[in-house]
Order: sequence, then structure tokens, then C-alpha cells
Amino acid sequence: MSEYLILQLPSANRVYADDAPRLMRAELAVFGEAVGGIADTDEVELAGLHYVRFTAPELTGDRLALLSNASSLYALFQRVDEDLLRPVPIRPLDRFDSDLLTIQKYAGKTNEQFTRLLLNVTCLAMAEPLAMLRRPLRVLDPLCGRGTTLNQAMMYGFDAAGVELADRDFEAYERFIKTWLRTKKFKHTAESGPLRWQRHRLGRRLDITYAPTKEEFKAGRTRTLSFRATDTLHTAKIFGRNAFDAIVTDAPYGVQHGSRQAGELQRSPRDLLSAAVPVWVTALKPGGAIGISFNDLTLPRGELLDLLTRAGLKPREGAHYEQFAHRVDNAIVRDLVVATKP
Ligand SMILES: C[S@@+](CC[C@H](N)C(=O)[O-])C[C@H]1O[C@@H](n2cnc3c(N)ncnc32)[C@H](O)[C@@H]1O
Repeated sequence: MSEYLILQLPSANRVYADDAPRLMRAELAVFGEAVGGIADTDEVELAGLHYVRFTAPELTGDRLALLSNASSLYALFQRVDEDLLRPVPIRPLDRFDSDLLTIQKYAGKTNEQFTRLLLNVTCLAMAEPLAMLRRPLRVLDPLCGRGTTLNQAMMYGFDAAGVELADRDFEAYERFIKTWLRTKKFKHTAESGPLRWQRHRLGRRLDITYAPTKEEFKAGRTRTLSFRATDTLHTAKIFGRNAFDAIVTDAPYGVQHGSRQAGELQRSPRDLLSAAVPVWVTALKPGGAIGISFNDLTLPRGELLDLLTRAGLKPREGAHYEQFAHRVDNAIVRDLVVATKP
């Protein structure tokens, strides 16, 4: 067994204040369920810096590949001696520059590291937990705002789809992503227009096909990005049954956020999720997983777990799944739940 130390991104400490190490340890525990062998996590201080420590067999192969994606990992070290650390080269899935995730700034944005954490623990809850390392997954955020989850899914080389009611978010995302793809000179096609279903107009749609290089684009090794500006209750109609490997979303918190308009609060988070979860489950493949973050102050965790169970899902349980709650501000204690479709 070796001892490893993780230095967390300085921004993680800013965003989550004192909670970052606890969230990292809970995330490591979920990684450990998938690949085994990760144990004894705790926190240590060395030369004035704080690290998350764990023991594991020599980190290679899948274990290293998976851990490299930990949401707030900045640097990984193997402890050689009491005061000697050896840097371990990490190999995250990341395909693009991190500005894909950081350029957009707006009130109500879900922070990028937390979005990555939610995507990680959701993918790991799939019947095939290492699928994220093996193939491009198809990921949906059915309440996608201006696309933080879509961008993180792109980052991992996945196909991404999003649904969002607010037209202004659709427009802002369309502007951003087209500019980003053009600026980075990624070969792509983009189509947008009305979204129709059985001759009814449901909203608007944007479909992008892209590849990181011309050669990949020509060879058809492309990824897709779909955005639907409509009510999330239309998700199954629009995308069909069993369409997604993972559904990942940050639900409305039930509190007014900066520039957000009253429209989004027409339904309470409880009413929205009661109506939407069964629809989302239809769009999820058997063996797929769903991860939802929510405000514990407006929707208690137990109620959401019941709702997932009633929808035929199997919530992930275990002490570490109860370690993700963290305070965002006075009105929000954000937590997450993850469940699998049998
Ligand atoms: C917490 S925000 C998600 C923010 C997003 N993760 C981001 O970083 O941009 C929840 C989103 O759900 C959207 N929403 C609420 N009710 C909806 C509905 N019925 N259908 C589609 N979207 C809805 C809101 O407009 C809001 O953008």
C-alpha cells in the first residue's frame, strides 16, 4: 500500500470554504466503490498547506485514470518519506481548455467543480461504473440553465443534451458555444430552429455536431450537443425512451437568484421534481444513473429519496453519500442524491 496526498484546487477552497476536503473525501469513497482499494482518507497539513490523504495500492491503470478526474484535484503526490512527496502524473479525461467551463459568468450558475463532482458520482453509479473511461456516454441535464453540465460533459468527450425553459438561457448558451467553437477553430455544424412535436410547437432547438480536429470530423468521429428550450416535462417526448446513460441536474433551489425572473419559480422544487423525475426516468437507459443536486432547506433529502424510489430507481446509499451537503449561502444548503435505473 502507498500513501497519497491530494492538493485541492485553491478555488475549491474558496467556493466551498471549509467543506472542500470533506467533499473530496466523500468523492474518493465513491471512486473507491468503483475501483476498490482506496482507504484511510483523512486531512493533513504539511508545510502550511492542507492535503487530503488516502492509502491505495500503487496508482496505475483504471484507478489512476478515474482518480485523475476528481473534481477539485489540483495535484497528486505519492508520499515517499515523512517529508518527501513524489508528483504523480495525472491523466484526466479532459479534451478541451478549461475556459470552456469558466468563460461564462452569470447569476445562478452552478459552480464548475461541483458540476464535475455531480457528473462523476452519477457516472460511477451506472451499472457499468467504469463506462466513463471506456466510451463516450450520452448525458442529459434536463434543467440545464446556460449549460455548465453540457460543457463538463463535452470536456469528458461525451454527447451532451440539455433542456431549459428560459429562452434567455438558450440564447446566451447558443451565443457562447458557437463563439467558443469558432474561436478555438473546432470543425462543427450548428442548426437551430423551432422545436416541434406532432405538429405542436414546443419551443426552440439547437443541434451541434463537432470534433476537435478536421480529420476526426471528416472520419465521422464527431460528438453531439443538443439544447432544447422547452419545459422539462417534454423530455421523454423529445428524446425518446432509454436515450441517456446519465442524467445530471442542479434543481432550482426555490429561492430567488439575482437576475432570475419569477417565471422559474412557478413550481416549487418539490412539485417540479415530483412531475419531472418519472419523465426523466423514461428517458434513462436501464443501468443508467441519475444525479440531482438540490437545496436541502426547501426539499428535504428523505423526500427526494422517496420520490426517486417511487419512480422505480434505486438510490445509492452509504455513509459517504451523506457527506456531500454544504452551505452555499444563507438560503441554500446544497446536497445531492444519486440513483440507478435497474
Ligand atoms: C439551478 S438552475 C441550473 C443552473 C445550471 N446548472 C447552470 O449552471 O447554468 C435550475 C434551472 O432550471 C430551470 N427550470 C425550472 N423549471 C423548469 C422547467 N419546468 N423546465 C425546464 N427548465 C426549468 C430554471 O430556469 C433554471 O435555469
